[in-house]
Amino acid sequence: MAGLGTRFLPATKSVPKEMLPVVDKPLIQYAVEEAVEAGIDTIILVTRGNKQAIVDHFKPSDELEAFLEARDKPAILRMVQGILPSGVTLIEAIQEQPLGLGHAILCARSQVQGEPFAVILPDDMVRAPAKGCLAQMMETYIQSSSNIIGVEQIPLEMSHQYGMAAVEQDHRGFQRITRLVEKPPVEQAPSDLGVVGRYILNNEIFDYLEILGKGSGGEIQLTDGIVGLMAEQEVLAFRFQGTRYDCGNRLGFIKAMIDYALEDESLSEPLRAHLASRVD
Ligand code: G1P
Repeated sequence: MAGLGTRFLPATKSVPKEMLPVVDKPLIQYAVEEAVEAGIDTIILVTRGNKQAIVDHFKPSDELEAFLEARDKPAILRMVQGILPSGVTLIEAIQEQPLGLGHAILCARSQVQGEPFAVILPDDMVRAPAKGCLAQMMETYIQSSSNIIGVEQIPLEMSHQYGMAAVEQDHRGFQRITRLVEKPPVEQAPSDLGVVGRYILNNEIFDYLEILGKGSGGEIQLTDGIVGLMAEQEVLAFRFQGTRYDCGNRLGFIKAMIDYALEDESLSEPLRAHLASRVD
């Protein structure tokens, strides 16, 4: 989360992009909830060290809690107290310079403590029908112990915005990645499968990130580290069930807002009526 959020200025001048709400919950809280649902108990936020609002969001607020208690609002109080579920630890890792996603992950190496880990890019929201995207991926990780990357079909002409993968199906029915390229021009895209911001990676990825030079866009790319890792370990592509919203741009964010609001009991009906009247 070490980005500057330039596409959402002026909103992001002093508020971190990850704190922008979809309906009434900030982006980062959706990401943390998805991780916790997948069984993760330690969350490492990689930031530039200037995202106090995010850290505060997950800390207890004595003043707010006392207020809600005094006003006898037990439901809201429970909701506020549950923002960080019990048993879940949140720690921060600092990326001092914005050198790329691969570099951001590398900054968390010591906190990951030699274990496999998952990566969620909070910009990529996935609204899943039953089980969250990462929980779905975790099932495949438990079966295979292989590195897993979330993918979906994307319009080929957008290949320059994504990591792009070619896959082949193996005898277990898993999609093994055979090629992976970061943001290729359309004529060099290995297929129309784009990487979304969900990864489960074995710890050896750090050895490859450590030795990486600059890649696409002059940045240290996670995709390039994974390509290195592919020489040693299997990497599987995972087509999740659900809808992804690219909340890194305004249109994707607005679509997410509308779809989540349409699922909200108290908003759905009046919003539907409003949208219908506007569209007509
Ligand atoms: C990152 C990854 C890219 C992936 C994308 C998904 O790019 O480098 O491979 O497809 O996230 O959102 P970014 O969008 O941060 O430039």
